[in-house]
Amino acid sequence: MRVAGLTDLACTIDGTPLIGDGASLRCGHGHSFDRARDGYWNLVVVQHKASSDPGDSKEMVTARRRFLNTGLYSPIAAHVFETVRDLAVSTRRADGDARAFTIADAGCGEGYYLQRLVELAAQSSDTAALRLAGFDVSKWAVQAAAKRRANDGAPLPVRWLVANNRRPPFAAQSIDLMLCLFGFPVWEGFRAAQAQGGAVLLIDPGPDHLIELRRIIYPDVTQTEPQSIERAAASGYWLVRTETVRFSIELETREAVQDLVAMTPHAHRMPEAGRMALAAIDRLLVTVDVVARLLTLD
Ligand SMILES: C[S@@+](CC[C@H](N)C(=O)[O-])C[C@H]1O[C@@H](n2cnc3c(N)ncnc32)[C@H](O)[C@@H]1O
Ligand SMILES: [Zn+2]
Repeated sequence: MRVAGLTDLACTIDGTPLIGDGASLRCGHGHSFDRARDGYWNLVVVQHKASSDPGDSKEMVTARRRFLNTGLYSPIAAHVFETVRDLAVSTRRADGDARAFTIADAGCGEGYYLQRLVELAAQSSDTAALRLAGFDVSKWAVQAAAKRRANDGAPLPVRWLVANNRRPPFAAQSIDLMLCLFGFPVWEGFRAAQAQGGAVLLIDPGPDHLIELRRIIYPDVTQTEPQSIERAAASGYWLVRTETVRFSIELETREAVQDLVAMTPHAHRMPEAGRMALAAIDRLLVTVDVVARLLTLD
């Protein structure tokens, strides 16, 4: 597959196209955004910020990066790639190969899944063309993502953006597939960037996700359902497929245990007794149980 960075960006204030040279992007109304040193673009404007440092903190980003780089979650990355390949191939057939398949990773974090997507696409013999963007409201996450490099040291063919799921910074109807992996979908925002037939791949924790860890942290562990998608229908999205990706991972160091917890909401929620119990663990077999739902826009 051929892979390139996504080029059609829109101003997050008024939605008009952003045109640019290498150093800044500008819309027709004079809003201007500068390229950061690491090569990403910060498109969040101060009046849209709910806090001065939104999204994941630098520490959370670092823990996630260390953990995901171990490759323990690679079956999830493989599921993302297979979904992309199937959709890109069927869309290309419908379009007679007229244009590239556009993908935006909403809440991309520090970029692990897009990097794996680039690598797996490069190994694929399929001829579809992909255009990729990753955006996240955390500047720390996007900064880390923009520092990712391919094996040959080149920057990844991905457009990295600081932006909010409420206002995905893309031209109307331009995104074929929105990825939302362990994220916070904003259906109205996604719809603004997608045309009829556009898809969202939503990956969330399933009932048994990290159950062994949760049994250590909490006195009572309940099975929890993946987040509700009730609000998707109001924006025109329909569930077309639900799949479970389930496997076991062996955490072999205290650092791996701590990093995995730091990636989850339990890091903030866990009681002191749970924190202490966890600190004593340096080896654990853990169930990964995630639910992958594919929705399309009618
Ligand atoms: C649990 S992390 C998952 C990151 C990545 N998708 C992964 O699976 O490794 C959730 C991410 O969503 C980002 N986030 C939270 N609210 C957001 C919003 N409204 N718009 C965009 N990103 C958001 C956070 O900064 C964080 O990086
Ligand atoms: Zn503008």
